[in-house]
Amino acid sequence: MCGIVGYIGDRDITSILLVGLQRLSYRGYDSSGIGILSDGELSTWKKSGKLVELETMIDGLSIQGNIGIGHTRWATHGIPNDINSHPHVNQSKKLAIVHNGIIENFSSIKSRLSKQGFLFRSQTDTEVIAHLIEYYMANASLETAVENALLEIQGSFALAVIAESEPDKIIAARRSSPLIIGVGDNENFISSDINPILSHTKKVVYMNDNELAVITRDHIQLKLISGPEIPLKTHQINWNQEASEKGGYDHFMLKEIHSQPHVVRTILSKYIKGKNQIQFKDLHRDGIDLKLINRFIIQACGTSWHSGLIGKYLIEQYAHVLTEVDISSEFRYRQMISQGNDVVMGLSQSGETADTLACIREAKSKFYKVLSFVNVKGSSIDRESDGVIYSHAGQEVGVASTKNYIAQIVTIYLFAIHLAHIKGKLSKDELVNKIDQLNKIPEYMDSILSKADELEAMAEKYYLSREFLFIGRGLNYPTALEGALKLKEISYIHATGYAAGELKHGPIALIDAKLPIVCISPQTSTYEKMLSNIQEVKARKGKTIIIATEGDKEIKNYANDLFYIPKAPEELTPLLACIPLQLLSYYIAVKLDCDVDQPRNLAKSVTVE
Ligand code: AGP
Repeated sequence: MCGIVGYIGDRDITSILLVGLQRLSYRGYDSSGIGILSDGELSTWKKSGKLVELETMIDGLSIQGNIGIGHTRWATHGIPNDINSHPHVNQSKKLAIVHNGIIENFSSIKSRLSKQGFLFRSQTDTEVIAHLIEYYMANASLETAVENALLEIQGSFALAVIAESEPDKIIAARRSSPLIIGVGDNENFISSDINPILSHTKKVVYMNDNELAVITRDHIQLKLISGPEIPLKTHQINWNQEASEKGGYDHFMLKEIHSQPHVVRTILSKYIKGKNQIQFKDLHRDGIDLKLINRFIIQACGTSWHSGLIGKYLIEQYAHVLTEVDISSEFRYRQMISQGNDVVMGLSQSGETADTLACIREAKSKFYKVLSFVNVKGSSIDRESDGVIYSHAGQEVGVASTKNYIAQIVTIYLFAIHLAHIKGKLSKDELVNKIDQLNKIPEYMDSILSKADELEAMAEKYYLSREFLFIGRGLNYPTALEGALKLKEISYIHATGYAAGELKHGPIALIDAKLPIVCISPQTSTYEKMLSNIQEVKARKGKTIIIATEGDKEIKNYANDLFYIPKAPEELTPLLACIPLQLLSYYIAVKLDCDVDQPRNLAKSVTVE
């Protein structure tokens, strides 16, 4: 999950590349670098560490040029040091390449080229491509040499190449890793996603797998690698740049937590038409007949897997359709047993998660229909699914997913009750009532967010704890998993989410007076059971941080700390209970001076396996 960017045109090339890399840094920030052709001469600058290290390195240099490429790295092969940073160059340093992906057969190619006298400088897989292109350039154009090299490559790539031999073009190509072309006026851009392009042009071309582009300032030729030319299909982006700014919040994550009521209102406005009529216009792209489906297989990663677990409860509870949930990296290697009329679902904010994308491709190869829930329009999962339901969460910049988690739950809930209604399991009146309940959620969220200071005070009390336990039942078992993940990924504190009923089967051995246990315990059908679990914790002196329903006085007796959420129907409690957990994690991470928006070792979109 690295980020690549490229530009050809008359603007200040360094600024375009560096600002572009800043906007891609959420994809990885172990190192960064740029390569620029100036009067036909190639120069590269690259540095380990965050982008500011590179900026410092080139600060004050008057770099000229009108064609260049850039890279921000999440290390896969080779430690994050200067020499492993991109761009990588060929022997003569007259050709440079930036790459996002993994070359699976790089070792065999590397040993072959080494025997032919090519000298390797880095430990990376990417450098192999630079030398392989040089190998083929002996008697071919840059474009053909790149094609020949890519025909040998196994694995994933989104890459850009520039060379002194043909200093008026960028060669770009993709397989499995995302790549977009920004179409300008006498200038063109390439990027891993739209963020670096958005402020320059809203006209884009989404490249598909095994496509190669030859990009000059006034022309874009798109073709299959070693295949025929493909007509350019441009899209107009309707996002605006200010969505990418923090809007007065200290971190994108906090901004995105506080935007959740707005996200829910947006989703309802997109999918509820007239008097509580649910409409999904992109659901039936290719023959998904909802009434015939007799099994869903939800597959996703991380936070999206958590919302998938909630989706299972909701679809089975309302539509009475068997629903399995699996982690993508497990599902793709499991034996898929089709019973006919199965639909595989991909849940993904980015729409580019490699494991989730691989699963939908595998499922389609086995003739499953694929219905996906994605946030990023035009993403690979969006474009490769038979039907899609967009999250409409807006751009999510914080690496820790918050508003899209809420959006996924709301959209899955709408899907579940819509399906229930068309299958005759939910009457029109019941459907109207459920939508009325959902319409109250944004104001409940607003009231929770207005008490954020309570979570900040709690964080002050617990931020030095070195481990946490999160427990919940039913629909809030996934809430416990999500709360633990949020805390882990932004504060680096070890946290585990458990089904509360599981405590006595082992985890209860962990409990002592030092261990904070976050107990998600709104008034639901399993409330009494949850109360018993909390008492088991108290009996062992555990510190209980309880999320409870407003008005619940009894539970006060068992709480070291207590946060109330508004009373809501059981199926909607995960939408409310996760917000205090997001805020608690956020404030703990801030108190620990962690990099909330770009936590160590992570990236927003995991486009490698
Ligand atoms: C979320 O907080 C995590 N950063 C991560 O688990 C994420 O949910 C996961 O990588 C899946 O991403 P996706 O939704 O874009 O597929």
